[in-house]
Amino acid sequence: MEPGLAIRPIHDTDSTMTQFEPLTPDSLSRLRELLGDNGVLTDPVALSAYGVDETEDVDFRPEAIALPETKEQVAAVLGLAGEARFAVTPRGGGTGLSGGALPVYGGLSLSLERLNRIRFIDEVNLTVEAEAGLITADLQRAVEDLGLFYPPDPASHDSCQLGGNIAEDAAGPRSCKYGTTRNWVLGLEAVLSNGTVIRTGSATRKNAAGYNLTQLLIGSEGTLAVVTAALLKLTNMPRLRLTLAAPFSSLQGAARAVSRLFVAGVDPAACELMEARALELVARLTPIPDQLANAAALLLLELDGDDSDALLERAAKASDIFDEQEQVEVIIAQESSDQRRLWEIREKIAIAVREYSVYKEADTVVPRSELANLVEKARRVAKDRQLEAVCYGHAGDGNLHVNLLRGDLAAATWKRNRDAAEAELFEWVTSVGGSVTGEHGIGWSQRRYLPLAALPGSIEVMRALKSAFDPAGILNPGKIFADE
Ligand code: MLT
Ligand code: ZN
Repeated sequence: MEPGLAIRPIHDTDSTMTQFEPLTPDSLSRLRELLGDNGVLTDPVALSAYGVDETEDVDFRPEAIALPETKEQVAAVLGLAGEARFAVTPRGGGTGLSGGALPVYGGLSLSLERLNRIRFIDEVNLTVEAEAGLITADLQRAVEDLGLFYPPDPASHDSCQLGGNIAEDAAGPRSCKYGTTRNWVLGLEAVLSNGTVIRTGSATRKNAAGYNLTQLLIGSEGTLAVVTAALLKLTNMPRLRLTLAAPFSSLQGAARAVSRLFVAGVDPAACELMEARALELVARLTPIPDQLANAAALLLLELDGDDSDALLERAAKASDIFDEQEQVEVIIAQESSDQRRLWEIREKIAIAVREYSVYKEADTVVPRSELANLVEKARRVAKDRQLEAVCYGHAGDGNLHVNLLRGDLAAATWKRNRDAAEAELFEWVTSVGGSVTGEHGIGWSQRRYLPLAALPGSIEVMRALKSAFDPAGILNPGKIFADE
């Protein structure tokens, strides 16, 4: 689509229509004045690249892409958007899994990729201030060089950006011990939709002054403000790690063991589960040791700490807990090369699913005691509709990614069956105290399920907050709420 030609309605959604002004030639030339010619892209290749993220099967092109280099430029762009009333969709590394960075109303894709500096690392107070476009793994490497540790580890850490992690409250395997992104943020620098730059929080570990805007902006998916930088907490890098791979012949046993590990104080840094079908799909890409390949469910644990005896004791305790369920031949990897090989099995699942079939991923999260029931329920809702379900994920958090696979179904049947299966699954998940997303966010693709996870009164407060932050509704429209 050429920029500036039409008012774009939202498409393929159940929303009532919301309209924005197109990016007119005048708006585009004002953007170029603000950002320079190379700070604004309108060529078709770029528009198509910024029209997708990692969310399966969806594509919404922006009319232009802005690449600011400073918070002042972000502020000027938002000021202009408010005046000219075009939609602005903030974008990080484009690795999101709920369409949060997709410009569903067209308008401007506001990429933070050029705001990518580490402003400082404070080795006395154990903090780092970094800009939103910094790649998460670059942040981790920079602090690791100083023996420090920033734990949040989304699967996409080599390409996702800090700002996107904050927008979605990203997590990953280590969140069962270290928490999600929100547990590591002390303060934010952000730009409001009217162009005002704000700073939230402080450089202190405690701060009880007023509403906690830092925590409100984290997970708000770019709908309330554009985060330009964050002050993060750091901790010391644990000196030792062990990886345990435990192949179970029953899913029930593996799921029960997960809860027991936490009750018994094993305190794993990561506790991941892969069911048999996930292992089969990974085996199409990479060899899996026989001992693990035929498991009904594989648990992968990481234990970390500084004291090797204590670490081995915790590993022995984990092994005993597995054996209480059934006889399990646990592999314990101490060398980092062996650990890497085990983790590769887990890391390849998403790509293995993608290569096998068109799919839709439901980011379910339940109390740990419901894990086995969750997998059973996922299999049932899928089978009833001629689909297949593949489950894997962060069992320690009760957070399993349920992938519904299309297989050979015709497009219309797939869409109908997928939506029905997902709705039934989420209804069950929320009926047992779970939620409709653990770490991928509501974004665009999950917005019809928000009412299952939040009462009408809560959604009303969320909408009131949205109006207070962004009265013109130009910031990341079409996200979180099912209608605008
Ligand atoms: C993962 O845990 O592998 C990520 O959240 C990505 C995914 O589930 O597709
Ligand atoms: Zn995940």
